Amino acid sequence: MSEPQPKTDPARMEKIVSLCKRRGFVFQSSEIYGGLNGCWDYGPMGVELKRNLKDYWWRVMVRERDDVVGMDGSILMNRAVWKASGHEETFTDPMVDCRVCKARLRADQLPEKDGVPFCSVCGSRDLTEARAFNLMFMTYVGATQDESSKAYLRPETAQAIFVQFKNVLETSRKKLPFGIAQIGKAFRNEINPRNFTFRSREFEQMELEYFCAPSQGRELLEYWLQQRLSFYEAIGLPREKLHVHEIPATERAFYSQGTYDIEFEFPFGIQELEGVAYRTDYDLTQHTKASGKALDYFDEESKQRFVPHVVEPSAGVDRTALALICSAYDEETVTDEKGKSETRIVLRFHPRIAPVKVGIFPLLKNNEQLVAKAREITALLRPHMMTFYDESGAIGRRYRRQDEIGTPFGITVDFETLGEKGDELKDTVTLRHRDSMKQERVAIKDLLGLILPQL
Ligand code: GAP
Repeated sequence: MSEPQPKTDPARMEKIVSLCKRRGFVFQSSEIYGGLNGCWDYGPMGVELKRNLKDYWWRVMVRERDDVVGMDGSILMNRAVWKASGHEETFTDPMVDCRVCKARLRADQLPEKDGVPFCSVCGSRDLTEARAFNLMFMTYVGATQDESSKAYLRPETAQAIFVQFKNVLETSRKKLPFGIAQIGKAFRNEINPRNFTFRSREFEQMELEYFCAPSQGRELLEYWLQQRLSFYEAIGLPREKLHVHEIPATERAFYSQGTYDIEFEFPFGIQELEGVAYRTDYDLTQHTKASGKALDYFDEESKQRFVPHVVEPSAGVDRTALALICSAYDEETVTDEKGKSETRIVLRFHPRIAPVKVGIFPLLKNNEQLVAKAREITALLRPHMMTFYDESGAIGRRYRRQDEIGTPFGITVDFETLGEKGDELKDTVTLRHRDSMKQERVAIKDLLGLILPQL
């Protein structure tokens, strides 16, 4: 029996998309020219969110481990890479055309009525046969445009890791098992980009290729699945909204000996965030055959030479950022001291990934001393975290603006800070917590010690 699916919530998604634009998370690419389908620009808040996400991934996947090193491969690579990897031949989606409205649609995502597929744009059932459509963007390298200068924008970052396996192994002097990690752009000419940034034509991946002896592959697949689930929890995605889908043998790539999809409950349904795949020795073997260069490993202990197997956790930056925003979005009714109720929109980000960590507010903008003190606190915190200084509008409005971008802490400098109510409160500020809206009095000298451990 299949599990009941959580309801989709298009109205919630609409509000999230609108907030993303209003508060500078995500804009349509080339918007003033009508946009470019499947491409997005990240604004001041979005870029901080993505950076925090990538930095945390790099920290736990590379810097905090002895067995993983990083690399940064080029986006354009020799076309031979994509022939050997199988992408040129088989990296396709099935596509159909609607004969009535001419829409091009993914054959495997067509809506159906009574078992008959129909066009999702005009409703017609007059569709062509499905045919394979290659998702790689093609370009030419150099001044001539012919077969010999053809190249592709990479559709995944992984292949750069495989083809540099020997160089990285030799220069880093690692022993199996060890991994190579990379974060970077990937491009796919998706037939139907959709669900906001979820399925884009230009996106970023965070990939680890973890090389091991053949006997370790199965166990490491389970290990990496658990590591990756812990990662998502550590950035604030609740475990109950994460799902693990084991891909049945009949549906996974022929060379894979096990694949899990880590999925998240988006407002538009349960969808994939990351794939964790045991790819055996397929990739290194393919490149060895095609290049004639051995991509193998000599094990000093057993004195054996073999082609390493690989376990690959492959995550999407944009999808995870979207999951973080969807998960964080909340609305609640709050009532002020005068009994007036209003809806508070708040992004309940984990402080670790929140774009701005602390908002700093002088109570009044036309009081030099308050402003100077607030500026001083900004200078104190800035080297350690992203701050936002805001002196305009009523303090309640300033708090709300920070709530909407998910800033976990607010610091208000008032007359007590200046010592006007006695020495006891001098050089203390109000520290406001975003989620509870509780406020406490904290000495300026204690601020760093209080906030930093939570980031
Ligand atoms: N190297 C393996 C690989 O690329 P994939 O499942 O095709 O595997 C990995 O992609 C991850 O990249 C996905 O789980 C997803 O997070 C992200 N991704 C793939 N296609 C995407 C797209 N069109 N838009 C946004 N993210 C995408």
